[in-house]
Amino acid sequence: MFHLSEHASCINPKATSDMEKRTGIFAGNDPFAIARKWLGEAEVVELNDPNAMALSTVDDDGMPNARVVLLKSVEENAFVFYTNYGSKKAQEAFGAGKAAFVIHWKSLRRQIRCRGVVEREDGFLADEYFLSRSLLSRVGAVASQQSQVLESRAILMDRVAVLKAEYGENVPRPEFWGGIRIQPVELEFWADGEARLHDRFRWVRDGQNAEWKVDRLYP
Ligand SMILES: Cc1cc2nc3c(=O)[nH]c(=O)nc-3n(C[C@H](O)[C@H](O)[C@H](O)COP(=O)(O)O)c2cc1C
Repeated sequence: MFHLSEHASCINPKATSDMEKRTGIFAGNDPFAIARKWLGEAEVVELNDPNAMALSTVDDDGMPNARVVLLKSVEENAFVFYTNYGSKKAQEAFGAGKAAFVIHWKSLRRQIRCRGVVEREDGFLADEYFLSRSLLSRVGAVASQQSQVLESRAILMDRVAVLKAEYGENVPRPEFWGGIRIQPVELEFWADGEARLHDRFRWVRDGQNAEWKVDRLYP
């Protein structure tokens, strides 16, 4: 399910401290590799949507917002999900230039938190992912004016029927739909511990291409 793309031109991120203190599920000097490993493990045990994450943005007034989206790619230096660029989340993410997300796996009793800067992925990778979706999902993406008021479900279904007839099997990715790439400046890997004495490791860096510093945090 996960597109483990090698895309991204940035340096291979390396942690500068605490490497030797992290063992087991926290081991390694590449946080994206750890995230991929945890996602892979979640895929085996989670009932549904192991890649579902709560995405946070803020509007122009600083009012927070949150909703679930599906993480579709863990790149060398970033996380990517797909959406409608006219949606609230996209407007807020690009308005602020930043977003955050958290993924919680109930079965594994783990979470990953991320805060970072955002950019569009509306090139080849977006086309490739769009084409991998089912025909109805592609039609649905074209039909939906996501987050706008919809007077009735019938209006949406009529639009879907019209688009189906118009495009047949060949539904191109619309310009208003694509990926949002989050390049983290902060990541936290959290795992449940006995008596709430959880393990937490926070990875921070000064910019999306800088070196990581890792600290263990009190639970
Ligand atoms: C399990 C789950 C997965 C979802 N995945 C996505 C997704 O990948 N992209 C997306 O745009 N919306 C997704 N949604 C819908 C969003 O949660 C949200 O309702 C929608 O994107 C509109 O959000 P906005 O008005 O804040 O932009 C998902 C919802 C759920 C419950």
